[in-house]
Amino acid sequence: MENSRRDFVKKTVLGTSALTIGGILPGFSAKSYARIIGANSKIIVSMMGVNSRGKALARNFANQKNCEIAHICDVDSRAIAACTEAIKERQSKVPKGFGDFRKSLESKDIDAMVIAAPDHWHAPASLLAMQAGKHVYVEKPCSHNPAEGEMLVEAAEKYNKVIQMGNQRRSWPNVIKAIQEMKL
Ligand SMILES: NC(=O)c1ccc[n+]([C@@H]2O[C@H](COP(=O)([O-])OP(=O)(O)OC[C@H]3O[C@@H](n4cnc5c(N)ncnc54)[C@H](O)[C@@H]3O)[C@@H](O)[C@H]2O)c1
Repeated sequence: MENSRRDFVKKTVLGTSALTIGGILPGFSAKSYARIIGANSKIIVSMMGVNSRGKALARNFANQKNCEIAHICDVDSRAIAACTEAIKERQSKVPKGFGDFRKSLESKDIDAMVIAAPDHWHAPASLLAMQAGKHVYVEKPCSHNPAEGEMLVEAAEKYNKVIQMGNQRRSWPNVIKAIQEMKL
């Protein structure tokens, strides 16, 4: 019984990963797709809101071999400076700072925006990013209400973009297992 439950969790996680990869690729433009495939390929990222969580995410994204942080956006220039410092050892290119994230979205070079500004910005910034042709990683909560969440799903379909909300705990195998144990 224990083994079959473990197998199920393993297979589910593998299946989810495959679906995620399958979901990402069709949404990328030819230009960004070309960056993914190949030895020197990079996904070019803009970070929005980089104080606490955003700075931690910036470090994680900068650690990925296929990822480069090109823009760092925050209304607080001190946060931009601290985040730039935090990723200095992880990537050679120094990112450009923006006080207004909409200026970053105007750039054709950006593939994806990572949003870790306060909650009330999550849905509006995600919508603007997808409208501007960027994929989105947005911190939880993705919206203030179900209607905003539905708008994000519609926008992802309309603009053919991938949006991922950062509720990563739901994907941790030990948390999945704990929830299953509680439901028994
Ligand atoms: N998934 C997780 O594990 C996890 C963990 C912590 C926080 N979070 C989420 O991350 C978000 C940020 O949390 P935090 O603790 O880092 O908050 P924080 O207040 O420390 O940082 C928010 C940053 O956003 C900036 N900001 C505000 N308005 C902006 C705008 N219009 N454009 C650009 N930058 C703007 C602020 O100046 C600040 O630097 C919250 O929504 C929180 O729920 C998620």
